[in-house]
Order: sequence, then C-alpha cells, then structure tokens
Amino acid sequence: MNKELFLQQYPAYAVANFDEIRKEQYAQLDETGQIYFDYTGGNLYSKYQIEQHFSFLQNHIFGNPHSTNPTSMLSTEYIEQTRKAVLNFFKANDDYYCVFTANATQALKIVGESYPFDHKSYLLLLFDNHNSVNGIREYAKRKGASFDYCPVYLDDLRIDENKLLQKLTSSNFKHNKLFAYPAQSNVSGVKHDLKWIEIAHQNGWDVLLDAAAFVPTNSLNLQEVKPDYVSVSFYKIFGYPTGVGALLIQKKAFEKLDKPWFAGGTVSYASVTMPEFFLVENQERFEEGTLNYLSIPAVKIGLDWIAKLGMDAIQKRLFCLTDYLLKELQNLKHDNGKNLIHVFGPTNSDKRGSTIIMNFFDAEENKIEVEEIEQKATQKNISIRIGCFCNPGIDEITNCITSDELEVFYSSRSDNKFDKIHFLGKMRGAIRISLGLMSNYEDCMYFIGFCKEFIKTSE
Ligand SMILES: Cc1ncc(COP(=O)(O)O)c(C=O)c1O
Repeated sequence: MNKELFLQQYPAYAVANFDEIRKEQYAQLDETGQIYFDYTGGNLYSKYQIEQHFSFLQNHIFGNPHSTNPTSMLSTEYIEQTRKAVLNFFKANDDYYCVFTANATQALKIVGESYPFDHKSYLLLLFDNHNSVNGIREYAKRKGASFDYCPVYLDDLRIDENKLLQKLTSSNFKHNKLFAYPAQSNVSGVKHDLKWIEIAHQNGWDVLLDAAAFVPTNSLNLQEVKPDYVSVSFYKIFGYPTGVGALLIQKKAFEKLDKPWFAGGTVSYASVTMPEFFLVENQERFEEGTLNYLSIPAVKIGLDWIAKLGMDAIQKRLFCLTDYLLKELQNLKHDNGKNLIHVFGPTNSDKRGSTIIMNFFDAEENKIEVEEIEQKATQKNISIRIGCFCNPGIDEITNCITSDELEVFYSSRSDNKFDKIHFLGKMRGAIRISLGLMSNYEDCMYFIGFCKEFIKTSE
C-alpha cells in the first residue's frame, strides 16, 4: 500500500507532527540508516533530553544526597522533584510511594524478597510473565509458600480468564496472597485486563503489576486502577537515562513489605552493640545505598518530553502502524499460496500493543531458523529481536513444548538452550518486532520489503 492510500485508511497517523520531530529530535535514526524495531527492549532518546540533561550537569554541582551540605541538598532537591513528577505522571498523587531502583527487575526483587510469604500463602502468576516476575516464585518457595500459574490460549496468547477468575476466587488460601502479572506482554503485546486488579483485591489478594512493557505506549492512571505494587524501567519509556527504574508502592500496602535486611540509606538508626535497627518510615526504606543522583533528574526531563509528545498521540499512531503491519505480514504468501509468516498472539489490533511475534516459514511450511532471519535483518540494519525474550511461558506455548517434555529434559541436567533444541527436537524462540514512539510508515514498509525477500517465487 502506498503512503497516500495508507493515510486515507489511517488518518489518525497524521494527527501529530511526529515526522518532523523524528527529523529534528531523533536525527541519528535516519542519519545512521537504522530501522529500529526493538522499542520493548529499550526506547530511543531525543536530542532535547540529552541537551537538557547535559546543560543541567554542566551548570550545577551535585554531591552525594545523604547529607545536608549544599551540593548534597541540591541532589536531594532534584531527586524529590523527580519523585513527584513520577507520581504525577502515573496520577498516583499521595496514594503511592515512589522508590527509585536500578530497573524494573530490582523493583520486582524488592517485592519478592519483602513480601511476607509463609507456608499458608500463595503466589499466582501468568504463563505470560517476564522472568523477573517468574523469579519471585523462588522467594515464595523458600518461605514455604505455594505458587501457581494461569495458562494462556495458544491461538491468541490471552489468558484463560475463566481459569484465572476461578483461581482468584478460590478460598483455599486466605493469607498473604500475591497476584503478579504484566499489564502488557513483553512478547506478544497482549494487554492483560487491568480490571483483574480490583477482582483480586475483592478476593483478598495483593497485586503486583509489572508495567514495564505497558507504560512506554499507554497511560497508567493509578487513580483508576490501584495495584499494590508497580514496577517500571524508565529507559523503556523514553530511552535515557538507563539505570533508573521505580517501584510504586501503594501507601496502605507499604507496611506489608517486610524488608529482610538494612543497608546504607534505609535506616534511621542501627547499632553494632545492639541488634536493633529502625528502618526509615518512607520510600527510602527500599532505596539501598546511593541513588543514581546524576541520572534521576533526567527522568523528569524524559517525563516532560513524553508529556510534550502526548501519550495519546503516540498510541494513536502506533495503533495505525500495528494494524497495518499485522494485515500486511499475514498476507505475505509464497507462490504456492502458503503463508510466509505466522503471527502468534492476537492477529488484529484489538487490546494489544505494538509488539508482534512471529515465525517465518518456507514454501514447504518448514520453519526458517530465527537466527537466519536475525542475521539477514542485521545485514539490512534492522534491529529485531529473536529468542524467548525472558518469557519462557510464551515460548513454551508457541513452540508447543509440553511440561512432560521439559521434565525429561530437566532431569537430564542440561541447561544449555541449544542442547534443549537438540534434545526436544523442537525449535525454540520466535522473532519479535516492537514499535515505539518514533516508528513510522517508512520503517514498516522497509520491514515488509525485507520479509518479501523470503518469499519463494516459482521462476
Ligand atoms: C514486562 C517486563 N517486565 C520486566 C522487565 C525487566 O526490565 P529491566 O530489564 O529493565 O529490569 C522487562 C524487560 O524487558 C519487561 O518487558
């Protein structure tokens, strides 16, 4: 479809002046000829953000924040301003604490290690969780808690909602129940329903919402939905800085977290002659050691930048591109009529983000190895991702790997992914493209052109 037709079909694409912004603010994208399709891996930063941050660093002296000298207090002032900006961005107001962390994984770890699991408690996960959420089950297991997974359907990679509701309303476990799920899948782009938060609460659960893959392209309004704990990484929202994330903790769920140790910055008092210590009564309880005080102010700059672009505009534009790509990719056929691409997960743009996973097939319907696709994409400067994206549940579903097969594999004591492929005689992995704030029609056309090179013609 040429651009004129595309614009006729998707008028919302042109509502914002993003093409000009891309030229001005993300010039390196086109200057270096990169086709960037890994926004879920990490977002891109604008010229505005780095210029603002550079000038900020150039014009101030910042000291370690744990003091009351002028340079230290300046760092604290900017950290607190940024904290407020983060809470405002998510409309969390006074209901939440914002704990700065290194990334979403550290935020999730804080909940894992501090949640008061015991032999009467329960952790409920989805098949579609990032490993940084899956890993929480190890904390639960060590404290004698049980855990369980809610499955997804193979056809659209959405959750079997009946099963989930059964598990949420089951009264077998009454004590310290944690339900942890992603607002959006980092692999399939499926948006999981935020209404489950309220249902879980009504049934006595605490809810950990992993919002890392959701917030780069969606507004999260914590006045409307109120998970107890929320994890995010800022580089996924606006590219720069890396190394800063946050755990948002609903104030009424704060005391439930039982921090297992203390460290610099987290105590109001600790002694070496007495075993007692007193943890700080606010978010600093979980901010261990020195915060990334030079980068944290860049988070506020990033949030301001996203507000300037407008999340609504980002979302509308991405909806058009994703809808278009989904249709085009699924229409690519070999000359014998066989499909080139199988898209996993939702095949249309309903309740999904702009992340798409797929596999390529030859005219005889054999899967083309993902490594080959990646290699060829790299030759064309296209950044895609292959593998299982730290989300083994989706990988096991899309490659039809059963728990029986895995049991035999794991009991063979091999932990090498490639051994597993040999062992199971099945491929692992898929190809993921993820679009983001600066993706455009031309990127999509380039990718479609790349895919067409795999089409077998009869001559
Ligand atoms: C849904 C989701 N959760 C958690 C993470 C972990 O984020 P980080 O690597 O920034 O800690 C990711 C990273 O891709 C993710 O997509």
